Amino acid sequence: MWLINSSIGRKVVMSVTGVALILFLTFHGCMNVVALFSGKAYNMICEMLGANWYAVVATMGLAALAVIHIVFAFILTAQNRKARGNSRYDVATTVNAGKVEWASKNMLVLGIIICLGLLLHLFNFWYNMMFAEIVGMPAKLSPTDGFGWIQETFSNPVFVVLYIIWLVAIWFHLSHGFWSAMQTFGVNGKIWLKRWMCIGNIYVALLMLAFIVVVLAFAFGCAPSLCDAAACGM
Ligand code: HEM
Repeated sequence: MWLINSSIGRKVVMSVTGVALILFLTFHGCMNVVALFSGKAYNMICEMLGANWYAVVATMGLAALAVIHIVFAFILTAQNRKARGNSRYDVATTVNAGKVEWASKNMLVLGIIICLGLLLHLFNFWYNMMFAEIVGMPAKLSPTDGFGWIQETFSNPVFVVLYIIWLVAIWFHLSHGFWSAMQTFGVNGKIWLKRWMCIGNIYVALLMLAFIVVVLAFAFGCAPSLCDAAACGM
């Protein structure tokens, strides 16, 4: 199948799965921003998602997207290195030295940092919430108390630092990935590529700042309490 056998096919797979993952992050970022205003509203969303069949199916779909994206990333990197042989850094060291972005040269390294951060994140949240609910595992907090789990996680400064590093790595990875996907989808011409690069940079910056603000708000105690005024009707 050309999607797997050809180089352009593999790039299309990377781009489609990448854009789908950005859409998930957009939903997840918007959901997290709710925690800045109302703990009760945030937990209502967590309860709605919970371990219901549709949430479990969505999680499986998401995991499949992430696995395909990661496997194809390794295949494409190996293929590029094989094609360029020992001179795989030529592009960066000769004519285009100033033009090649740092993120573009380090997509795989950024991807690995992101995967490690994701494992930590899934342990902190998914394992204590959805998994705990499915298997009936007793935990410190209720599996639907997402707000409580956020408070618990970011009361630890080590997690705050690790999450900020992780989110900045995702920021770099996405700012290159978004634009690269547009190129794969056939956007060409200097003007349109520049426009997409600008749109991508603004979109990704807003998205990642939303995640970072949530981490910092909980770390510095600026988030509402669970029974905030809006949720308690005061
Ligand atoms: C401020 C930062 C973040 C917070 C507070 C946060 C919070 C949460 C919470 C509470 C859940 C459990 C939701 C539930 O099961 O109802 C969750 C799940 C998850 N988060 Fe995050 N998240 C953050 C950043 C991220 C980022 C940057 C990514 C991706 C790179 C991510 C990926 C996921 C995934 C894949 C799940 C499992 C989703 C599922 O079960 O379908 N999160 N997160």
